[in-house]
Amino acid sequence: MRVIKKFLMKSLAKLSRKPKVKVSLKRLEGFIVDIGAGGEGVIAKTCGRNTVGVDINKGEIDEARSRGSLAHWVLCDACFMPFRNGSFDVATFFFSLMYIKTPKRKWAVFVEARRVLKSDGLLCLWDAIIREKPDLYVVFVEISLPDGEEIFTGYGVRGKEKEQNLELINKLAIEAGFKVTSAESHKNWFRACFH
Ligand SMILES: C[S@@+](CC[C@H](N)C(=O)[O-])C[C@H]1O[C@@H](n2cnc3c(N)ncnc32)[C@H](O)[C@@H]1O
Repeated sequence: MRVIKKFLMKSLAKLSRKPKVKVSLKRLEGFIVDIGAGGEGVIAKTCGRNTVGVDINKGEIDEARSRGSLAHWVLCDACFMPFRNGSFDVATFFFSLMYIKTPKRKWAVFVEARRVLKSDGLLCLWDAIIREKPDLYVVFVEISLPDGEEIFTGYGVRGKEKEQNLELINKLAIEAGFKVTSAESHKNWFRACFH
């Protein structure tokens, strides 16, 4: 079934004029909270039992679980996470900020991520650059995991106030108390780390 989905996704991406992205992931060290973690559960797959996956949608958590995720899962809004201050070494957003629309909500999840991170904790994110304003934005993403597994998927989001780029994300993260550690912007996506 998974092979068929991968084949269909690849064919759809080839035929489509939608943005395409290739991301290579390395394993992250420490206790990790992955925010907007459901669906493919990419970070949970990469980092396994050290990951707490947070998602607001039970269906997305169930989907990640059905893919054999070893992570611990918590159903909640990332603006109000049920964790103590300074619980995690790393917080991640993997193509999930695009689902948290409006700069105000993105800023609120950064503030909450800062709270649950240790003082020397790291925030790492990967996300789509969204320039156009059509109602439905879709990006196809090919992901290489450290164990050699390849995931091919599509992420789509509808509605207003979904435009985002690295400059906006840096600004919001800085306003939430982070400092930029590294950042790179590509044609259709960006990656950034903060401490
Ligand atoms: C489709 S996933 C993105 C990719 C996912 N990280 C993966 O590995 O496949 C985006 C997720 O963010 C979740 N999400 C959106 N807003 C959220 C919020 N306020 N708090 C927690 N999760 C949220 C959605 O339910 C969705 O499952």
